[in-house]
Amino acid sequence: MRSIIDVLDLSVNELDELIKTAEDIMENPDKYAEKCKGKQLATLFFEPSTRTRLSFESAMLGLGGSVLSVTDGATSSVAKGESVADTVKTVSCFADIIAMRHPKEGAALVAAQSGDIPVINAGDGGHCHPTQTLADLLTIHKEKGGFDNLTVGLCGDLKYGRTVHSLINALSRYNNVKFVLIAPNELKLPEYVKSGVIKANNSEYIETSSLEEALPKLDILYMTRIQRERFDDKDEYERLKDSYILDAEKMKKAKSDCSVLHPLPRVNEINADVDSDSRACYFKQVKNGKYMRMALILKLLFDNYTQKDEEYITDKKCTNVRCITSVERGIKHKFILRKSDNTCRCIYCEAENK
Ligand code: CP
Repeated sequence: MRSIIDVLDLSVNELDELIKTAEDIMENPDKYAEKCKGKQLATLFFEPSTRTRLSFESAMLGLGGSVLSVTDGATSSVAKGESVADTVKTVSCFADIIAMRHPKEGAALVAAQSGDIPVINAGDGGHCHPTQTLADLLTIHKEKGGFDNLTVGLCGDLKYGRTVHSLINALSRYNNVKFVLIAPNELKLPEYVKSGVIKANNSEYIETSSLEEALPKLDILYMTRIQRERFDDKDEYERLKDSYILDAEKMKKAKSDCSVLHPLPRVNEINADVDSDSRACYFKQVKNGKYMRMALILKLLFDNYTQKDEEYITDKKCTNVRCITSVERGIKHKFILRKSDNTCRCIYCEAENK
């Protein structure tokens, strides 16, 4: 039984295989229409979602399976104080696979450890969102034919943007990908992603606060929303929320084949006048997400997999208030020594223990 919590749970070969399968499903949907007959997907969403939940559900229905859904924590026994672990043990009695979104970092890992069916992380707080990355990768692959030698601009909320962290993790494993990190000072990419991922993979990067200066260099522009729900200081959110607004005028500075991606939902950061530009790929990205989720569901339900044993450090406590360990009863705090930057990190939220 295998779960996907982080995009790094998938090797580069596996990512390439998923892309091939997704492209085959797109071309030959009938071949896959009954592959999951008799199987049930449970979507457990304790944070709002339109694309991720509906595309998971559409993916399972497209494979001939069926769907059970919790669309709001307030309508499940979580509202009575039930733990993630007990919720997942219960859902495992009905379903064959779970896709879960939760506001706490590491909640998906707790879910994966609690039940005996595969769990797919559909977003855990500001931590990871691996299936959004699968949608992003298929979109880039279809637009550019591959990943090597691309210059990728990431713009907006690089601090809290889990889709940004997951995409950098995935792309930095390909050859000669350069990152242009475009953010205001307050929302810069966290050091643990810069040192633990970009530098550790010897990828080139520059940081800037100017979208206009960066635009002419980019093969891919990945716009993101400033994430109001992650700010402790609401005044800071108000000050930063319109830091970047891409519009048709600014797009004149971009390369003729620059692809514009956005995980969506957008608020103000891409003007509607960009939607008709042939370089705007964000709605194609939504569609691609469904096919990558189909490919992932098939992989987790039908591939053989042997779990790797990991060595954990258990005499430390995680102090990150956003970590699932801060609220879930009965979890053993566990840390792992991350070799890429020689730091000791919580296995749930990746916060460093110094
Ligand atoms: N991209 C994304 O995760 O969208 P939703 O929040 O609508 O699922």
